[in-house]
Amino acid sequence: MSRSLCYLFVVVMVACWSMPAQLLAADSVCIQCHSGQAGALAAPVADWRTSVHAENGISCNDCHGGDPTDFGMAMAPESGFLGAPDYADVPAFCGRCHVGVADAYQAGAHGEAIEEGGAQCVVCHGNHAIQKASLDLINEENCSQCHSYERAALIRSSLVETDTLATKVEHDLDRLYRLGLNVEDMQGRLFNQRNSFHRIFHGVDVERVRQETSGVQSKLGEISNEVAAIDSTLEQRKLWGSVVIGLFVLVGVIFLLVRKTYEEEEKG
Ligand code: HEC
Ligand code: HEC
Ligand code: HEC
Ligand code: HEC
Ligand code: HEC
Repeated sequence: MSRSLCYLFVVVMVACWSMPAQLLAADSVCIQCHSGQAGALAAPVADWRTSVHAENGISCNDCHGGDPTDFGMAMAPESGFLGAPDYADVPAFCGRCHVGVADAYQAGAHGEAIEEGGAQCVVCHGNHAIQKASLDLINEENCSQCHSYERAALIRSSLVETDTLATKVEHDLDRLYRLGLNVEDMQGRLFNQRNSFHRIFHGVDVERVRQETSGVQSKLGEISNEVAAIDSTLEQRKLWGSVVIGLFVLVGVIFLLVRKTYEEEEKG
């Protein structure tokens, strides 16, 4: 009897081991029930699985509220269920977590014009299949649905220019790090500049984007200058290094010549 229990234990262990991780972590009741629904009620599940939110453990109930452990009460108002937000309520809905972005957004032209069709979060990012954001979201197809692309293009070029500079500084710091130098302080400053940089877009104001990106660019320029100073010190060290090696070689050659002359004199 105890032996067959042992076998059973081993079989269960092996089965668990070979199961994909998603199956082991039980899905919430939201996901279980919605997966079995039709059309627009089921679609969010598959879309969400591909998202940056799923990757970071943000699930249905983190956005929509409700009780993810109770089939009967899951969507009851008493469980804090919020439902799906209306168009103009989306910024506050997403802004519970993305506070800095939502503040910049509300103060900008899109936030101010939301009742007149200003773009809100899901217009640009989607709702369930949200991916990591990048400047590629600013393109003619996305941004000329409601107005001309002209102002969007100006914003895009300022941001791309700054982003390119930040990437160059990042590569420089990686290179110095690989040489064994301590670049922690400069990396910290780069991180802070990048953080404030990624908020600028949501205000969609051409003049402010120009002003703020030039502020970020001058801070990045400072780091770049420090990198250049370190590089020139390294160059000088390399130069002195080769001069010293050259001197050693010279001394060696002279020594050999002297020894040779001495030996020849002894023979002669
Ligand atoms: C037992 C099945 C079941 C469970 C569990 C369940 N749902 Fe639903 N859900 C439905 C059905 C059916 C509808 C459509 C009818 C309705 O709105 O009641 C729906 C509708 C919704 C809507 C759209 C509401 C609207 O205003 O249009 C959202 C959002 C939603 N569910 C999220 C959730 C979340 C989050 C959970 C878990 C906390 C959850 N659901 C759990 C079956 C379920
Ligand atoms: C990042 C926040 C977020 C997460 C996570 C999320 N939703 Fe939603 N969901 C929304 C928003 C916003 C809407 C409103 C639709 C719109 O404006 O496009 C919505 C709408 C819905 C609707 C109404 C039908 C529709 O598609 O418009 C259902 C049903 C729904 N969600 C279910 C779910 C389920 C089930 C999950 C988990 C698998 C989930 N949602 C995860 C933000 C989210
Ligand atoms: C008009 C289109 C548009 C709207 C509306 C919009 N976004 Fe964005 N969002 C973008 C673009 C473009 C980026 C990339 C900006 C960058 O890389 O500098 C971005 C970046 C982000 C990021 C990443 C920021 C970071 O630090 O890397 C988050 C989070 C985000 N948006 C959330 C939101 C939320 C929440 C809303 C609504 C309050 C919203 N977005 C409205 C286009 C939009
Ligand atoms: C419950 C908190 C929460 C809510 C609500 C929420 N998010 Fe997020 N979101 C996160 C977390 C956590 C991450 C991953 C960490 C990060 O990148 O900030 C994330 C990541 C993102 C990113 C990628 C950021 C990047 O670095 O490129 C975007 C874009 C985004 N969310 C948009 C939205 C939108 C749009 C909504 C509303 C429909 C929303 N989020 C609602 C918590 C939330
Ligand atoms: C759903 C419609 C819609 C979409 C999509 C949209 N916008 Fe807008 N946008 C508006 C409205 C409405 C206004 C306010 C009226 C105006 O200035 O044209 C506006 C204003 C602007 C302004 C002017 C701000 C100012 O005061 O000078 C800029 C810049 C802008 N949008 C950039 C973008 C970019 C970039 C995208 C694409 C990532 C985009 N918009 C996508 C609706 C939209």
